[in-house]
Formats: sequence, C-alpha cells, structure tokens
Amino acid sequence: MQPVPLKDIPITADIESRSPHYTADEKSNLISRIKKLLQEQEAVLVAHYYTAADLQMVADETGGHVSDSLDMARFGNEHPAKTIVVAGVRFMGETAKILNPEKRVLMPTLEATCSLDISCPAEEFKAFCKKHPDRTVVVYANTSAEVKAISDWVVTSGIALDVVNHLHEKGEKILWAPDKHLGRYIQKVTNADILLWPGICVVHDEFKERALRQLIDLHPEAKVLVHPESPEKVIELAHVVGSTTRLIKATKELPDKEFIVATDKGIFYKMKQAAPDKILIESPTVGEGATCRSCAHCPWMAMNNLQNLAYVLETGENEIHVDEAVRKEALRATQRMLDFAKKQTVNVLGQSNA
Ligand code: 13P
Ligand code: SF4
Repeated sequence: MQPVPLKDIPITADIESRSPHYTADEKSNLISRIKKLLQEQEAVLVAHYYTAADLQMVADETGGHVSDSLDMARFGNEHPAKTIVVAGVRFMGETAKILNPEKRVLMPTLEATCSLDISCPAEEFKAFCKKHPDRTVVVYANTSAEVKAISDWVVTSGIALDVVNHLHEKGEKILWAPDKHLGRYIQKVTNADILLWPGICVVHDEFKERALRQLIDLHPEAKVLVHPESPEKVIELAHVVGSTTRLIKATKELPDKEFIVATDKGIFYKMKQAAPDKILIESPTVGEGATCRSCAHCPWMAMNNLQNLAYVLETGENEIHVDEAVRKEALRATQRMLDFAKKQTVNVLGQSNA
C-alpha cells in the first residue's frame, strides 16, 4: 500500500491570501450579483460548514443549503435546480455530479482538494484492494470518483458507523480508506475486522491531546466535541464524537454552557446560530514542540469565496465532469449509502464517550 506521505501533501493555499477582504460596499454588491445570478441560472448553492460565513449566509438566504457532506449529497440530489453550485472541496462537487449527471455542477474553484483524497491515488488503491479480495471495500466520501468506482460502499462521517455495523453483523470483513483515525474509531466502536488505509486529514490530525488536556483543566465544565478524523488520543477525551452536523446539534441540544470544539473553525458560524447563548472554545492544534500547518482551518475549503462564486456563475467555468463509465460505478457505491440512509432513521455518529 502506498499512501502519499504527509510531508508530501502540498498545502498550496495560503488562507489569508485566499480570503479577500472586501469593503462593505464591495461585499454587498457581490452578494446582490450572486443572488441575481443564482436566480437567472436556475441554480442552487450548497455549501459545507467549513466554508466562509459569507458563503453560508448566501446559501441560506437563497434557498440553498449548508450542511455536512452526507446532507450536501442528499440535498443536491433532491433539489429541482438545473445547476448545483458546490462551495466546498472537489470530492463534494464530484459527488453531486455522480448523483446528478443531467445537472450542471459548478464549483467556485476546482483547485480545492482534500488531503484524504490526495493520500489515496486510485491505481495504488486498486492494487491494494486486489490483494484483499475477501474484504468489502468501504471508502469515505473524501475520495476521487475513481476510488469510489472501485469500492463497494461510499460513506460519510454521518453514516459510517451505521454502515460498518450493518456489514459487521452480516459477518463481512472490511477494507477501509482513506482516513485512518476515523477507521480506527469505527473499528473500536463496532469491533469489526477492519483493514485500514493510512490517510489523514491535515486539519484534524493537528489537534493535540496534551494541549487539549490542559484546556480541559482550565474549563472543567466544558463538554468536548470532536470530529472523528481527529487522532485517537483526542477522540478519547471527547464527550461527543460525530459528523459536523452532529457536533452542531450537540451545542444546541446538550444543556451544558461551554464546549471545546475539535474540528475546522468554519463550523463556528453555524454553531453560534444554533446555540447563541453558549460558550464555544477552539480545541488547540499546537502542542509542545508541534507546529500547525492548517491551524484548524482547511486550506482548500478556504479557497471558496464570494468573488470566485460570482465569477463561475457569470462564466459557467469550473464545471465538474466525471467520465461516464467511472460515474456509473461510483454511483453504485454512493447510491447504496443514500438508500441505506433513507431506510433508517440516520443514527449519526455521536455516541457519548464520557
Ligand atoms: P462531514 O461529513 O462531517 O461534514 O465531514 C467532511 C469533512 O471533510 C470533514 O473534514
Ligand atoms: Fe479534507 Fe480535512 Fe479539508 Fe475535510 S477538513 S476537506 S477532510 S483536508
């Protein structure tokens, strides 16, 4: 198995330079332009929680959707718009195209990738799967269409635990890729026989156990919310482990006042809306002797902004295309997840650990 080593994953986006600063007038002009273009183009904007607050706001105000990757896929699939504009990272745009070949799928930037996707090149992964023909191949949605096409199941963090439980109950052995932390977490909770591909998310991998413990000592009343792409030791300190949607719900539904949040800081926009009276604290990414490369904000999510959103709506550039043969195979594994999700009340990842 040959994943791309962490040091070789390029973090090409400098978050500051990719996040333009607008004057109030520029911003309001851009937003009006985008709203008009969305209407003219019969387009709907679907944004991930990690994208800039401006984009999330425009999606909300125009009948679009802000959500986790499972719900982004579901929403785009069910919405009648002719064009879906996906503000997020490339695999999210590809998933929209896989599910909606008849629709035009645009993205503000095609450069926005994901370290998990990079760490799992299709050819190497195919060779790995061939060596383990007795295993059911379950891949995280954060992968290319080509990798999805060679898998049995596609899952997101919102449904991974349920799918693996289901397969484990049927006695199936699993080959999981690419996020090793999420895979290990699922292995621990389900007790399933899982072979892991060693990919990581550069954002979540940086949350530090020791620094988090120190923060917990300072805020002993706080509940700790952790996305399962985080390292095992960080997950062990969590009160709630779950998808982005699950973590937002926790801030609203739990009676506690304070929360320490270990996921991309883009999530605070929705968390503050969901729980305006709660205290939300960022989990530390820098421990002793460590450096942070992403500092809790995905450099690729940060490539999406109002300017490039307006630009693609005006020009029709940055359309997502997926080879039809690949799409059909990737659809088989992706549709399986959506059908499975429909059949059950989605028991999102999020068991109480503490
Ligand atoms: P969610 O499906 O929980 O939104 O996660 C997607 C992702 O990329 C997290 O890093
Ligand atoms: Fe990928 Fe991590 Fe960015 Fe999510 S936060 S898109 S997993 S690099």
